[in-house]
Amino acid sequence: MSQTPEFAEALLAKTHAEPYRTKTIERLRLPSRAEREKILEQAHYSPVHLKSEDVFIDLITDSGTGAMSDAQWAGLMRGDEAYMGSRSFFTFEKAVQEAVGYKHVIPTHQGRAAENIIMELMVKPGDIVLSNTHFDTTRAHVENRKATPVDLMSDALWRFSEPQAFKGNFDLAKLEAALTRHGSRVPMIIITVLNNFACSSPVSLENIRAVSQLAKRFNVPVFFDACRFAENAYFIKKLEPGYADKSVAEIAREVFSYGKGCWMSAKKDALVNIGGFIATEDEAFAGRCKERLVLYEGFYTYGGLARRDLEAVAIGLKEGVSEDHLAHRTDQVRYLGELLEQAGLVVSKPVGGSGVFVDVEALYPHLTQDKFPGVALCADFYLEGAVRLGAAPFELHSVSAETGDIVDRVFQFARFAVPRRVYSKSHMEYVAGVAGRVVENASKNRGYSLVEHTEVLGHFFAKFRPVST
Ligand code: F0G
Repeated sequence: MSQTPEFAEALLAKTHAEPYRTKTIERLRLPSRAEREKILEQAHYSPVHLKSEDVFIDLITDSGTGAMSDAQWAGLMRGDEAYMGSRSFFTFEKAVQEAVGYKHVIPTHQGRAAENIIMELMVKPGDIVLSNTHFDTTRAHVENRKATPVDLMSDALWRFSEPQAFKGNFDLAKLEAALTRHGSRVPMIIITVLNNFACSSPVSLENIRAVSQLAKRFNVPVFFDACRFAENAYFIKKLEPGYADKSVAEIAREVFSYGKGCWMSAKKDALVNIGGFIATEDEAFAGRCKERLVLYEGFYTYGGLARRDLEAVAIGLKEGVSEDHLAHRTDQVRYLGELLEQAGLVVSKPVGGSGVFVDVEALYPHLTQDKFPGVALCADFYLEGAVRLGAAPFELHSVSAETGDIVDRVFQFARFAVPRRVYSKSHMEYVAGVAGRVVENASKNRGYSLVEHTEVLGHFFAKFRPVST
């Protein structure tokens, strides 16, 4: 019997077919269960210490793990490796100016190199830096300046199952309370688009406008942490009234028009394996950034990168805002979210950009924090199917919207970060199959104890052992 037209249309509406085809492949190996047990023990039960060749599906990060296009690879061959005044720099500079709308462009080797320079210039001991959420390197750089990073996301973040279109927004009442109480100590406000550690939820233009007005009132500059600006702009186009007919590139430029400048880890939405930049309208500030750049990274026409890398970023910035790419990308992440929910995990809703965020405590209610439920979840995903992901209790400072007092909170999540243009729909289904096994066996996990850790960014170095009783 032939299919009905309705069936065909329904199928086409949900296929999420990739807007690219495969030109080269990288083989993957699935170690046996017995091998996985041994490998996990050797990795001290932390996903950080696993070797990539022992991982079947790697969802530890979407940063620098994407696949470049044939145009980007061709761009690498065109790189002009001159130390000064390289042609590749001017190609890069123009692409960044077009993407973000700021005139002055300073290349860096990745996002945290830009953070290092910005924080050194903007932040002094005793300051309070306000953000919708600091990423962990951003937080560490603020603390490195002996200042306090304060995260002003809405409390809705803690309610994974409650769908709210722009969970990445600033809580404006908290922002106003923080500025009123601590304004003289606030050197800048950072708007992270999209808001990675807030379940990779987008930030609306309405919210960005309101933040900008408050910032003006208190005379505080606004900077964007822009690594996923294209995904954020795509969500604005799809979800925020009034933006459906604007292009992603136009929306992005409107977003940036509310700031003094931005920095970007190009390893995300610029679809490259390495790269970053600072961009700003302020010529004097750009000059100061360039001085620091020469000290830490390299001359200001390459910033710690090979010049060929600048070519790849220039092309990636254009591909990164293309709507067929963003439609497929966001569909793929949403599809994984739906499958993980069907497998029994509690997924943050709606599913955001960099990956799927899940509630760890809901899966391991029997494990108290000292038994490291996040470590248990990562270990179980590796044991059940060689899937690597990340999980962390993330200790943050926020403020009380009533008093402006700084209050400490913990937000615990696991993140299935999906690399761009790398995995297929069947890979997502495989991960969901493994999730089913993990959910089935979660109650048997007795937790882990900490063997070793460091003071700065400790989760990158920690080692664990299973609790034996
Ligand atoms: N800001 C945000 C919001 C990020 O997500 C990252 C990196 C950085 C800054 C730092 O950039 O890695 O190029 O130095 N995020 C990666 C992640 C590592 O897994 O989310 P970088």
